[in-house]
Amino acid sequence: MDFAFQDREGFLPSHQHSTQTYLLQLAKLIDEYRWFLQLHVVDFFTQNHWDDTRIPTSWKHLEELISDDYEELIELAAKHKVQEDWPLELSELIQTIKKLELNRQPTKNYDFLRTEFKDGSWFNGMTPKKKHEVPLLTGFVETIAKQHSVRKVVDVGAGQGYLSCMLACECNFDVIAVDNNEIQTCGAKKRVNDIIKRIEFAHKKGNTNSTEIGKFTVVNEHVSIESFNSVIHQFVEENDPWLMCSLHACGDLSATMAHMFIQSDSRLLLNIGCCYNLLSEKSDSNPNFVGFPLSRKMKSDGYFLGRTLRMLACQAPQRWSNNENGAEFFKHNFYRALLQLIMVKEELIKITDEPPKIGKLRKHCFVSFEVYCQSAFARLNYPSDAVSSDTLHKYYQEYLPFHKRLAIFWTIRSLLAPLLEALVLMDRACYLQENDCEVDLLPIFDPIESPRNMVVLARKR
Ligand SMILES: C[S@@+](CC[C@H](N)C(=O)[O-])C[C@H]1O[C@@H](n2cnc3c(N)ncnc32)[C@H](O)[C@@H]1O
Repeated sequence: MDFAFQDREGFLPSHQHSTQTYLLQLAKLIDEYRWFLQLHVVDFFTQNHWDDTRIPTSWKHLEELISDDYEELIELAAKHKVQEDWPLELSELIQTIKKLELNRQPTKNYDFLRTEFKDGSWFNGMTPKKKHEVPLLTGFVETIAKQHSVRKVVDVGAGQGYLSCMLACECNFDVIAVDNNEIQTCGAKKRVNDIIKRIEFAHKKGNTNSTEIGKFTVVNEHVSIESFNSVIHQFVEENDPWLMCSLHACGDLSATMAHMFIQSDSRLLLNIGCCYNLLSEKSDSNPNFVGFPLSRKMKSDGYFLGRTLRMLACQAPQRWSNNENGAEFFKHNFYRALLQLIMVKEELIKITDEPPKIGKLRKHCFVSFEVYCQSAFARLNYPSDAVSSDTLHKYYQEYLPFHKRLAIFWTIRSLLAPLLEALVLMDRACYLQENDCEVDLLPIFDPIESPRNMVVLARKR
C-alpha cells in the first residue's frame, strides 16, 4: 500500500497550505502566550501566578464552572471538549489550538503492522510501550524500504537493538545498529545472538521454514555530522542504496540525523524524535551547532524556545484520557507547588533559589501530602522533621481550596504543549524541504501508548 509521500504537505492541518506558513503561525501563537508558557507550575504559590494580571479573567471563571473531580479539565486536555457555559474567549483559544494541531491519530488502515514472526519470543524483555512501537515501526520501515528498493538500514541511536534486530531477523534487511553507549551495543549484540539461536532451534523443530536473516552489524560510535559519513562508509558501499532510521532519537540526535541525511548518500530518512528538553539552542556557551532551530526561516528570525518551553513540548495532554491519571497529575503538581511554598516560608530555601530537583517519586509517596513531603525531604537530604507534621498539615489545609486554580493553570498550559512539539517537527520538515527533500509526517503509534508518535519521513528529490 502506498501510504507516504502521497499528498504534497498532506500532513498539514486543514486550512494550512505550506509548511513554512504553518510554522510561522505556530511561532506567532507561541510568542503570544510565551509569558504564560514560561511560568512554572512549581512557583504557582510562591509567585502567586493566579493573580498575575496577564491571566485572562475568562480562565479564572473556570474555577466556578468545573467540578471538584476535574472531569471537565481532563476532557478538555484529552479531547478539547469545551462545555457550553464556558467563557467565549477561552472557547476561542481552544478552537485556535485545535485548528493548529497536527493530526496525531494513526490511520486505521495502515496494514504494515508485523504480526507473524519466525521467532515467537520477540517481545521478551520489552516494555508494553516497546511492544507496541517495535512491530509497527518495523513494518513501516519495511514497507517504505521495499517501495524504494532499499535493502540496507542504518538504525541511529539503536539502543538495545529492538528495532534493528527485528529488521534484520524478521525482514532480512542488512542492518547497521549504531549507538554511542557500550552497554546498549553489548545488549544489542546479545539480543541478536539469542534470536539467531532461537530461530535455528525453531527451524530444527520444523516451526519455521526459514533461517535466513540479514547481516547485523553493531557499531559502538558517537555519531556526529562530521564523523557520520566515514563511520557509515565502513559498512555501506558507494551506490549501495540505504536508509537511515531511528526510534526515539533523543534531543539533538534527531537534528543531527537531519543534517547527516542531507550530507550523506542515504536515500530515505525515517526519524522519530523525543526529549525536546535536551535540544540545544544557540547561546553564548553554545554559539555553533544547535538542535533547534534548523530551518533557514526560524534561524534568520533568531527563534528561541528556551528550556521551559522545550520541557513543556514533552507533555502529552492526550494521555489524560484516563481519569485517574489526569487527577493524579493535578495532585502531583499541587503537592510540588505547595512544598515549594513551605520550603520558602520555613526558610529551607530562598525564594530566589532554583527550585530543588526532587526527581520522580514512586507511586506510594503520593498517598498523602505528609508522606510526599517526607519522601521529598529524603531526596533532598533534609532531616525527616525539617518541617513538622503539624506545620505541613496547617499549610495543606490552608492551600487545599486553591488546588482547582492550579489544575486550571496546568491544564491550559498543557493544551499548548502539542503546538510546541509541532513547531519543533515543522522546523525539521522545513529544513529538509529547504534542502530539496520531499517530506511527509505520519503518526504511527497510538498517542496514548507512545506520545512521541510522529515519523518525520524524507526522501531526496
Ligand atoms: C532514547 S534512546 C532510544 C533507543 C532505541 N532506539 C529504542 O527505542 O529503544 C536513544 C539512544 O541514542 C543513543 N545516542 C544518543 N546520541 C547519540 C550519538 N550522537 N551517537 C550514537 N548514539 C547516540 C543513546 O545512547 C541511546 O541509546
